[in-house]
Amino acid sequence: MKRKVAVVGLGIGRAHIDEGFSKLPAQWEVGAICDLDPARLARTGDEFAIARRTAAFEEVLGMADIDVIDICTPPALHREQMLAALATGKHVICEKPFVTSLAEMDTIETAAAAAKGTLMPIFQYRWGDGFRRALRVVRAGLACTPYNATVETAWRRAQDYYDIKWHGTWAIERGGCLLGHAIHIHDMMQELMGDAASAYAQVATRVNPIETEDCAAATLRMASGAVVALAATLGSASEISRMRLHFENVTFESCTEPYSPGN
Ligand SMILES: NC(=O)c1ccc[n+]([C@@H]2O[C@H](COP(=O)([O-])OP(=O)(O)OC[C@H]3O[C@@H](n4cnc5c(N)ncnc54)[C@H](O)[C@@H]3O)[C@@H](O)[C@H]2O)c1
Repeated sequence: MKRKVAVVGLGIGRAHIDEGFSKLPAQWEVGAICDLDPARLARTGDEFAIARRTAAFEEVLGMADIDVIDICTPPALHREQMLAALATGKHVICEKPFVTSLAEMDTIETAAAAAKGTLMPIFQYRWGDGFRRALRVVRAGLACTPYNATVETAWRRAQDYYDIKWHGTWAIERGGCLLGHAIHIHDMMQELMGDAASAYAQVATRVNPIETEDCAAATLRMASGAVVALAATLGSASEISRMRLHFENVTFESCTEPYSPGN
């Protein structure tokens, strides 16, 4: 079945079109794009020959022929835009981070459960083939008891990253390396090790003069009883991502390539 999607926010949203929707023309048609920035709207519209362009999110909500709304705006907007989009009955995709508190997540889960459409997060590393194979081993019950894991996100963000004014702010980015960057590998670890029951963390801002944290060290006790150590920084002179997960019958170790830990 072919679906018509409206992409809202054309930073990473442009990549959704370029690397995703436009590569699957039998399944997807980009029926509309939306951005407050007229130059981005014009550039992306022209690049992918998308005629319907608007700066008004509310207009997208009212487009009867659109099946899916893909929200790619800055984090502080996600909650309200997801709730509004779910209320239309359309399917909704939203970039990470969905929300920034458990209470907000409860609101979203309640709305998603009552909605006609399906709500989907962007966690693209979940589709790495190494990760899929590890998940299959765990789900088949072959790994058995989870014991412990170490998970590292060692990336580098310099001043140019913070030239985008909302980056590094509590008001709009709403978190630093834990919420914005390490979220991917922490999601993967949880998918394999199960839910976390409690967390303790030290965070610090040491790399750039920003509001949010850019270094963090945390320990988790998982619901299973396993214990996990997380480390994240945006100040690594050479970049890696790595996780090493110890189960009774198997140890999984990711590659260290920073932006494809799922492989
Ligand atoms: N999955 C990933 O690996 C990944 C990578 C990069 C960014 N992201 C996430 O994607 C989201 C967007 O990040 P980005 O890097 O594209 O940011 P960006 O600032 O480059 O782009 C966001 C766009 O949204 C537009 N916008 C803002 N408010 C709007 C509104 N009310 N209606 C319509 N358009 C609006 C802005 O004009 C801007 O063009 C963030 O949540 C970020 O964390 C995810």
